[in-house]
Formats: sequence, C-alpha cells, structure tokens
Amino acid sequence: SAEILPTHTAALFQKAVKRAAELLRAGELVALPTETVYGLAANALDAAAVGRIFEAKGRPAHNPIIVHVADIEMARACVSEWPVQAEKLARAFWPGPLTLVLPRAESIPDIVTAGGSTVGLRWPSHPFIQAVIRECGFPLAAPSANPSNQISPTNAEHVSKGLGTRIKLIVDGGQSQVGIESTVLDISVSPARVLRPGMIREEALQAALPAETVLSQTSKKGTKAEIIKSPGQLKKHYSPKARLEILSWENEPDFLSQIARRKIAAEKIQVIAHTVIPSAGRFGGVSVIPHDAEAFARAIYAELHRCDEAGAELIIVEALPESSEWQAIADRLKRAAT
Ligand code: TXA
Ligand code: MG
Repeated sequence: SAEILPTHTAALFQKAVKRAAELLRAGELVALPTETVYGLAANALDAAAVGRIFEAKGRPAHNPIIVHVADIEMARACVSEWPVQAEKLARAFWPGPLTLVLPRAESIPDIVTAGGSTVGLRWPSHPFIQAVIRECGFPLAAPSANPSNQISPTNAEHVSKGLGTRIKLIVDGGQSQVGIESTVLDISVSPARVLRPGMIREEALQAALPAETVLSQTSKKGTKAEIIKSPGQLKKHYSPKARLEILSWENEPDFLSQIARRKIAAEKIQVIAHTVIPSAGRFGGVSVIPHDAEAFARAIYAELHRCDEAGAELIIVEALPESSEWQAIADRLKRAAT
C-alpha cells in the first residue's frame, strides 16, 4: 500500500516535495494536502497521467477535474481568456478555496475538461501543494482524493483508507484547514454563477466583482443544465456509508422521542450535535462540533469518516442555522442525506 511521507519539519517537507515531484514528472499519481480537502494529483498537461486519476477514483469520464496552479501567470497559460472578473477575483481570493471556470487553453487535454470548452482553475494556499507545483513547473489536475461518491478526505489517514492500495504516495500535511471543497464559480458565462457553494460566499464574490457583474441567483436551485455543467454536483454525492438524517430537536426528551420512532438500535446511531447535546440514551457516539461555521466545516468530514469507522447504521446531524455562512455546509449535508 501507499507510502506516507510526513512534512512536519523543513527537511521532511523538502524531501516529500522532491519525491512527489519525481513521481508526478513520471506520470504517476500523488495524494497531496490542500487547505480545503486532500487532492489526488497528476500532471495536468499529461493526458495519460490524468487518465490514471479517473481509474483510481472510479470517476465517471464526464466529470471535469480542477487544475491547480501556483501563480497567476500559470493560471493565464491554462485559459484562452483572462477577463477583468478573473483578475479581480484572483487578487481577492487567491491563493485560497475558490475555483474559477474559464475558457480553456489548447494546452489543456480534453480528459481534464471532460471534453468541455472550459477549465476549472484554483491556486491553493496550502504551502505543500504550492511547493510541489513550483518544483514541477507544470499545473496539477486534482480532484478530491477519495473513491468517487465517498466523503472527501481531510487528513492523510482518510486518503489511505480510501485509496491506499491504488496509489504509491500520500503526503501527510496535517488536518485540512477549510475542511470542505472550494467554491466553484463559472465566469465563462454571463451572468457568472456559483456551481458549487463553498466557504467563500456569494456576498464576498459579489463584493470583489466589478459592480456591473451580477451573480446569477439560480445557483441555489440548480437547473438541469447546470447539473450537467458541473457533474460533480449530481445530487447523490459526498456520502458516508451509513444513512444520514438531519434532525432538529428542542431539548433532550424531544430528541429521544424522535429517536424512539426510528426503530434502530441506539448503539448503531451516531449523533453529531452543535447546540442541543443528548446525553442520555447510550448512543453509539455523540460528538459535539463547535457552533461556528468555520470550525464546523473543518471538522464535519472527519466526523462522518469516524461514524463510518464506528460501524454506524444511521448518522443523525443536528440541523444547521439558515444563515449564509452555513450554506455550503448545509449543501454538503443535504447531498449526503439524499
Ligand atoms: O477544494 C477543492 O476544489 C478540491 C481540492 C483538491 O482542490 N477539489 C475538488 O475536486 O473538490 P472534485 O473533482 O472533487 O470537485 C470538482 C468540482 C466538480 O463538481 C466538477 O464537476 C467541477 O468542480 N468542475 C471542475 N472543472 C469544471 C469545469 N470546467 N466546469 C464546470 N465544473 C467543473
Ligand atoms: Mg470530490
């Protein structure tokens, strides 16, 4: 199974950069940390290498892959147009958890874009992937480093459990700091539209854009055309193995009576709460995540992985607040519950 390289000292970090770059130059796959989730990387300019990503993940060929760069110049080399919106958004949010969809350059292989005319680009802020891209001198195609349809990994162990037998190297860069996938914004269309919500919210995007660029309000609904445009947004996605339900409860007796109606042995239930914490009922596990959207996002995938490990049959997540800072997290949980 995969070799796991640590990065917690300067010397280990350098050694891992060299090893990762060596494999990537040879057309191999490497799982790398990013600030959102771990990515499964290949040379974005090498169609055969990118093909191995689809094989390792069991990813459908119609789902395009994000290309990761380490500066604006590299981003511009991947596109045929770099509009003022791209410049403004890149200045405001890169490096960071924002993917921009733009008309692709000829140099980007069809397999990366799933045959489409656009490419998704991101300059990640995690120092390790930045160092690897600079060392390689080419951009890296990288989806989340999980088997297709499973939960994204936020630490090296998650990657190892999901893909450890299918890849040679996993680089351990610690816990992902954002914890959910990047915001995907399509600026190849007018009005621009969010294809996948993330921790960079629509209000922040709007504020950084020129006043005359209005974001499409359709992003929440998701029309059929949109789903086909961003196939990663298929309804059933990001799923744990257990069934997941989102519930709200007022107090502990209310929670217990809702559970009683579910006819599942309490030890098979894992509860993820953030305000009202059930302490009675001896559930398989009750975990508490801070009532703060950023901290919740950072922790939620690890909690879902843990619930699966614990053999849960049902995961109950306390309903989230409705405010916009929780929107991206609510989106992921809704998909996991489908
Ligand atoms: O935070 C992230 O974005 C992570 C890290 C590794 O960068 N990557 C990630 O990749 O989540 P993936 O493949 O799991 O999800 C990428 C999403 C998919 O929904 C895909 O359909 C969409 O981005 N996407 C990629 N390129 C696109 C394009 N050219 N047009 C429309 N959607 C695109
Ligand atoms: Mg993914």
